[in-house]
Amino acid sequence: GEHLHAARICGAPLDPVDRKRDAEKRSQRLGAALGGGQPVSWTRVSLIAAAREAAGGAYAPYSNFHVGAALGFADGSVVTGANVENASYGLTLCAETVAVGKALSEAWRGRLEAVAVIGGKAGTVGLGEPVTPCGRCRQMLNELAALGESDPTVWCAGETEVLELHLSDLLPRSFGPASLGKGGDRQV
Ligand code: THU
Repeated sequence: GEHLHAARICGAPLDPVDRKRDAEKRSQRLGAALGGGQPVSWTRVSLIAAAREAAGGAYAPYSNFHVGAALGFADGSVVTGANVENASYGLTLCAETVAVGKALSEAWRGRLEAVAVIGGKAGTVGLGEPVTPCGRCRQMLNELAALGESDPTVWCAGETEVLELHLSDLLPRSFGPASLGKGGDRQV
């Protein structure tokens, strides 16, 4: 029936090599889209700008609080996310979690060097206190950091200051892949 057909056209999952090749192509495309043949590089300023831009994509009709997050990888690539709310309030996804989900689901496995977060009521994004990642987001970021064995800088941008933190400050003694005998883990 319909289901079997749907299952068939989905095909087999990509093998790890295909996934890597896909991620490389995507990275090149992104680099090209932003004005070069090489993967783009980011700075503190541009990563915060990318987070601010991403906040424009927030779906937050309930809180009206728009948040953007940008992940900066060692190869110069950037993956962004914005918060996604739901009529069932508790299902809300934060910007950082969306960004991590995008990165992992699109096969980014680079070393996570930095994270920028910015937010505020619609129309005043970045014009208040710095927004720091919630507990779940810290754990989500930890997964990506562990894959690349990094302790990323976390920039939380507010109106008059940018808090510069490290993930290990926000989530000490973390439980991560290494706790389950997988891959590398951040040494705290
Ligand atoms: N939010 C984020 O997206 N990231 C944070 O770091 C803090 C909170 C979102 C969740 C919700 O959609 C809105 O901000 C208000 O809590």
